[in-house]
Amino acid sequence: MTSTSLKQRVTTKILRQFGRPHGVPGRLVGWVMAHRASNRQRSLWVVSLLDVQPTDRVLEVGFGPGLAIAELARLANQGHVYGIDHSDAMVRRTRKRNAAAIRTQRVTLLHTSVDRLPHFDKQLDAIVAVNSLGFWPNPTQQLSELRGLLRPGGRIALASQPRCAGATADTTARAGRELHDRLTQAGFTQARMETLPLAPPVACVLATNPAEEQQGLFRLRAVSPMSVVLLAGEPPRWR
Ligand SMILES: C[S@@+](CC[C@H](N)C(=O)[O-])C[C@H]1O[C@@H](n2cnc3c(N)ncnc32)[C@H](O)[C@@H]1O
Repeated sequence: MTSTSLKQRVTTKILRQFGRPHGVPGRLVGWVMAHRASNRQRSLWVVSLLDVQPTDRVLEVGFGPGLAIAELARLANQGHVYGIDHSDAMVRRTRKRNAAAIRTQRVTLLHTSVDRLPHFDKQLDAIVAVNSLGFWPNPTQQLSELRGLLRPGGRIALASQPRCAGATADTTARAGRELHDRLTQAGFTQARMETLPLAPPVACVLATNPAEEQQGLFRLRAVSPMSVVLLAGEPPRWR
């Protein structure tokens, strides 16, 4: 085996660990994600953009070491925070970190994948996913299912900080555009992108689940260009 292919195999194995930390390397990856300053900064920043209200019911998909879950629980202190992650190691780690809020039934963390979403008894106000969508099996399909869990007017924030070797501001901008396109294809509206200038930068795309009458209007706009002129003003901006 050449040294290049060995390097590639090691890189692929490490990347897989970030997509589903497990075993001893998974514990190490969990520790890195929990302690890397940029991970903490981006999680707090994304949550701050989501405009969480005290009574909000919020879901995080792919919470990893749980930095955003802790912040969401602090803000939605009369609501409820749900998290799903398909890594058993991350679920155990984050349950420990949030033990007090779980005991008082303000946080629920479930070991499942985004393509096997649990049932929620009431609609959610907001959904967040940070550096997670890139690992989902069929992101646009899953975004559309996630939209089905949100109340009309509910918000979503998807963030990406590309961690591939040599990632630059351009890599981030491309990642942001992909998030934007997927959200639009999944039926979200009012998508807008914000950037946090880290190295590399973080892109966060925020969007809204339209109210039913708006959904009808957007469908109409999609089929009839004339209706764009006759019926549609741009919808109010999110936030
Ligand atoms: C790179 S880590 C990011 C963790 C955390 N959001 C952060 O920013 O520190 C990606 C996380 O998403 C989870 N994940 C990946 N694919 C998933 C899926 N299909 N369903 C649920 N969780 C998933 C992984 O297990 C991992 O914990």
